[in-house]
Amino acid sequence: MEINGKTRLCGLIGNPVEHTLSPLIHNTLAEKMGNNLVYLPFPVEEKHLEDAVAGAFGLNILGLNVTVPYKSAVMPYLTEIDKLADEIGAVNTLVRSEEGYAGFNTDMPGLFRAMQSDGVKIDGESVIILGAGGAARAVAFLCASKGAKEIFLLNRSIEKANEVAAEVNALYGDKVCAMELNRFRELPKWRYLAIQCTSVGLYPNADAAVIEDEAFYEMIHTGYDLIYRPEETRFMKLVKKAGGAAYNGLKMLLYQGIIAYELWNGVAVSEEAASEILDLLKEKVSVS
Ligand code: ATR
Repeated sequence: MEINGKTRLCGLIGNPVEHTLSPLIHNTLAEKMGNNLVYLPFPVEEKHLEDAVAGAFGLNILGLNVTVPYKSAVMPYLTEIDKLADEIGAVNTLVRSEEGYAGFNTDMPGLFRAMQSDGVKIDGESVIILGAGGAARAVAFLCASKGAKEIFLLNRSIEKANEVAAEVNALYGDKVCAMELNRFRELPKWRYLAIQCTSVGLYPNADAAVIEDEAFYEMIHTGYDLIYRPEETRFMKLVKKAGGAAYNGLKMLLYQGIIAYELWNGVAVSEEAASEILDLLKEKVSVS
């Protein structure tokens, strides 16, 4: 594309940002949609976070994505925070307004859109969430808000699981039951949608799953792993071996980007464009 006097800039702030796939998503979208826009990664040190947001505003930057470790830390520097992002306590997208940046969370709507595109439903389901970190917390809010029948939140440290359960239950009634990970045998013997939100199995430790016991996987009709490196995690392999359907987190990454792009540019990205970008992402992940 031609960069000229009207080119707008968007970008990613975080630390580290070297391995991000977001420039591929946004620069390809800009090309496909005919928007005069460039997307760049910006490694930001913690002590410069406030200056980075103020500087971006001063430079008329259209929007920013925010990644680890600043998804919560950036919130005090925003002029507005969307309801869902406020509930989750994490922002991954900043949208420029006249006064400053408004913060949104597109990770969760991104996961929801990814699940819809895979034909996986949350409404009425019994859900198991593995983990109780930032990602699991957001997924627990998503599942509660999208009508899950019940949610079992399993974590290695029960204290963190209890905290997340209490927060979600305060808003959505007694939906979430916290359990220690190694007590999964006490789960009611339903068939579950399981969402894997721990860091176990992430490249380069690809031969690990947070639960190895095959008995666990026999209860799972569908497994969603938020990890996308490797493309097929050990969790996914175990789900499939027990006869379930399994998905990785690449579509969630794709749709969180697409929703951010839609917010910045006031456009709707077609499913056709989404699936072309998914192919590019798959190619990139398989060679990296
Ligand atoms: P994120 O923000 O991506 O969710 P996080 O907040 O660091 O990351 O959370 C990591 C999750 O992976 C936690 O649920 C953590 O369990 P603990 O709360 O008990 O630490 C889980 N996790 C990481 N390594 C693990 C391991 N070896 N076994 C079991 N769970 C693990």
